[in-house]
Amino acid sequence: MQAMVSPRPGIHVQEHTIVKPIAPVHQLAQYKELHQYSLENSDEFWRREAHKYLKWFSDFDRVSQGSFIEGDVAWFLNGKLNASVCCIDQHLPHRQDQVAILWEGDEPGHCRSITYKELYRDVCRLANAMKAMGVRRGDVVMLYLPMVPEVVMAMLACARIGAPHSVVFAGFSAEALRDRINDTNSKWVMTTDEGKRGGKTLPLKQIVDKALKEAPSVQHCFVFERTGAPVDWVPGRDVKMSEVMAQQRPYSPAETMDSEDLLFILYTSGSTGKPKGVAHTTAGYLLFAAMTHKTVFDLQEGDVYACVADCGWITGHSYIVYGPLVNGATTLLFESIPTYPNHCRYWDLIQRHRVTQFYTAPTAIRALMRYGTEDIASFDRSSLRVLGSVGEPINPEAWKWYFEHVGNARCTIVDTWWQTETGGHLASPLPGVTPMKPGSCTLPFYGVELALIDPSTGQELAGNDVEGVLCVKRPWPSMTRTVFGDHARYLTVYMQPYKGYYFTGDGARRDADGYYWITGRVDDVLNTSGHRIGTAEVESALVGHAAVSEAAVVGFPHAVKGEGICCFVTLREGVFESPALEKELKQAVRDAIGAFATPDIVCPTPSLPKTRSGKIMRRVLRKIASGESDSLGDVSTLADPSVVPYLITAIALKV
Ligand code: WT7
Repeated sequence: MQAMVSPRPGIHVQEHTIVKPIAPVHQLAQYKELHQYSLENSDEFWRREAHKYLKWFSDFDRVSQGSFIEGDVAWFLNGKLNASVCCIDQHLPHRQDQVAILWEGDEPGHCRSITYKELYRDVCRLANAMKAMGVRRGDVVMLYLPMVPEVVMAMLACARIGAPHSVVFAGFSAEALRDRINDTNSKWVMTTDEGKRGGKTLPLKQIVDKALKEAPSVQHCFVFERTGAPVDWVPGRDVKMSEVMAQQRPYSPAETMDSEDLLFILYTSGSTGKPKGVAHTTAGYLLFAAMTHKTVFDLQEGDVYACVADCGWITGHSYIVYGPLVNGATTLLFESIPTYPNHCRYWDLIQRHRVTQFYTAPTAIRALMRYGTEDIASFDRSSLRVLGSVGEPINPEAWKWYFEHVGNARCTIVDTWWQTETGGHLASPLPGVTPMKPGSCTLPFYGVELALIDPSTGQELAGNDVEGVLCVKRPWPSMTRTVFGDHARYLTVYMQPYKGYYFTGDGARRDADGYYWITGRVDDVLNTSGHRIGTAEVESALVGHAAVSEAAVVGFPHAVKGEGICCFVTLREGVFESPALEKELKQAVRDAIGAFATPDIVCPTPSLPKTRSGKIMRRVLRKIASGESDSLGDVSTLADPSVVPYLITAIALKV
């Protein structure tokens, strides 16, 4: 690990210029050398790292196998381990009394510290409780949990007994939860009575009850208490987890798992169809999460590391739970939101817990920028060393604000580019190593080989100063191995677009220094407030409403969310547009997906711009929604060009 060089004051940051607050150039040369080595001697490189980070029951006999072309990638073959042992047991000899989880509840200062030893005991009790209720190795367990310590315990308890978990973000609706349960055919769902977030109460058990009405596979609903509020109870099905756990001994033998056994499934949106169950396996995922966590965040003994994402997303899996715990870190679990009880919540959190690394999304930074910088200055942020950004491109303005006002121009900003499917960071600056450029995720991580492809020719673009579709050129340990229950879809979505490459769905530019700049999704996936939403899912929710005959959904630039959601709908005969109907349609999307997918604009229209062959011209709709109607391009091929001026006016009235 590179030591942090003392900060230099008064650094002026300019767009597209290199910022080197803590990065002597010779360090970059060392990175380049090691990166080169990791590619040329891949097996040796990864063998050494796998032995360093993970606790093995028995060693693997081959480092890697398979290719993108065949879609049969496997790592650390025949190795035996258990993820919960890597996260907990391996640390007990030397850090059993160190805090593993530092929980900050919804109310400021409402905290719980859980040491590694306490975590061990609770995970064992929970593992035993699940076994007592019938959960077996290989069973998928759905976790619909808020940000309470039990979500981490549940993930690890599942890992301990060899039951893959599938965490569903507790902001998803009952319908979305139901669909995910039915896709896995799971027998087990875990939740809390209620959740607390930003002073509001979330009726989680009630949402689960609704979902379970149409999820016949479920045998038991395991319920933890968060608020203690009375909830409806289905005798025989619902299980009070605190009672079952109290009867269990705090020891539970860990299942011996293979490197390639499924660790978890996490649903994510794609450009078409229903969400995909992205499957991650044990050893490669854990290793890459741990190694990137340690390297990208420059983890040191005594650090208090805080990622304020939710465990319902991959960021929470890799960088709240698995990465930090494999590294024996103290990981903060944050239940609340950045603006509760006021806009200083993050700064207060950093000051009180003396946070050393802070990891959030550009959308949160942009939302907080609106409150100015005076208040931040009154909080002590001197503990901070590394500031992380994730989920969407960070605009240079937000980058500079984060750098100057949160980090006092003396912290490294790590703009981490990755995806649910990649399991961990594929590109990011390394503190003390990579000179930063505001808005660039800079260079690939060790062992990662990125490529840009010209979408019109399918050919890889050589050299620098090029722009294309971002692909990965060789397998890495934490890449998704399959789409749960649909390997053909896995091949279609990721492996077939460009033969021999993994297709990310992102566009990117490689500048003259070889730095990567993500330009955004090239497919029909929206990124709103760092949440990934398929336009097809929103459209399907809209046409599910009796008033709608056709829908087309596009993104548009949004000052805080990054991308806003704009829905064009044609209504059925005899239905007339009204503010009440627009509200109802927004509600239909919330019901189908969740509140985070609420459309910003619903625009009824007599027709949609289509080609003569009936294909909706999304390109035109995107331009109209973005207010770029002066650069619509050729609309002469439209079946009915008259709809274009109508839509331009209609949108102008909405924004
Ligand atoms: C998509 C993946 C990765 C965890 C959170 C989101 C976008 C992510 C960055 C970044 C530019 C980024 C990409 C990617 N994205 N990080 N640092 N710079 N874009 O995971 O929901 O799987 O979404 O988020 O478009 O493909 P996800």
